[in-house]
Amino acid sequence: MIAPSILSADFARLADELAAIHGADWVHVDVMDAHFVPNLTLGLPIVESLLKVTDIPMDCHLMIEDPDRWAIAYAEAGAHNVTVHIEAAKDPIKLARDLRAAGSKAGLSIKPGTPIEPYLDVLKEYDTLLVMSVEPGFGGQSFIAHVLDKVRTVRNLVDTGHLNLLVEIDGGINSDTIEQAAEAGVDCFVAGSAVYGAADPARAIEALRTQAVSANHRFA
Ligand code: DX5
Ligand code: ZN
Repeated sequence: MIAPSILSADFARLADELAAIHGADWVHVDVMDAHFVPNLTLGLPIVESLLKVTDIPMDCHLMIEDPDRWAIAYAEAGAHNVTVHIEAAKDPIKLARDLRAAGSKAGLSIKPGTPIEPYLDVLKEYDTLLVMSVEPGFGGQSFIAHVLDKVRTVRNLVDTGHLNLLVEIDGGINSDTIEQAAEAGVDCFVAGSAVYGAADPARAIEALRTQAVSANHRFA
């Protein structure tokens, strides 16, 4: 699956920018609060407006403090998947259950420097794991390859029936990096600058998908 990130889109033309990524599996929306991360982007009112103008399932990545308080509203608004950060969530198990009860999938994200091992039990409550392959906050950064160890750990637990979730990767995914991520076992690739920086975003999506499929026979 390919999930273009509108962080790299033109924010004055978001409806057009959503139309430009037809063929995308999910659209990734980065919510930043200038506290959990240094950057500030958009919040619930804009998400609600975007939901009205697209049929592409929305993947909301909340880089915010106190997701226990704020995340549920994104599920209630109609986001397909709502992802919170393990570094910010106070009660991640309750939060996952509340998100699912509110009608969305529950996603958990982890920064590059945070180990996954303490959270493997928590992941039983989640539908997606978003492995950050850059420090959250900005698009267009370089891919941090060592996070693929976390992907491999979780891929193995999924393939052996110990976990049941999709593995997403976010940050620095482009034609140079997607194959190693696919080989490590990623299911869903977030790509911001690689899609919206391309002359034809829809073609860029298909090119990334073709590369991922050729790099991992699981997708064939
Ligand atoms: C970074 C965001 C990413 C960002 C990725 O904090 O979570 O979703 O849009 O952008 P690229 O693909 O350009 O690294
Ligand atoms: Zn993101």
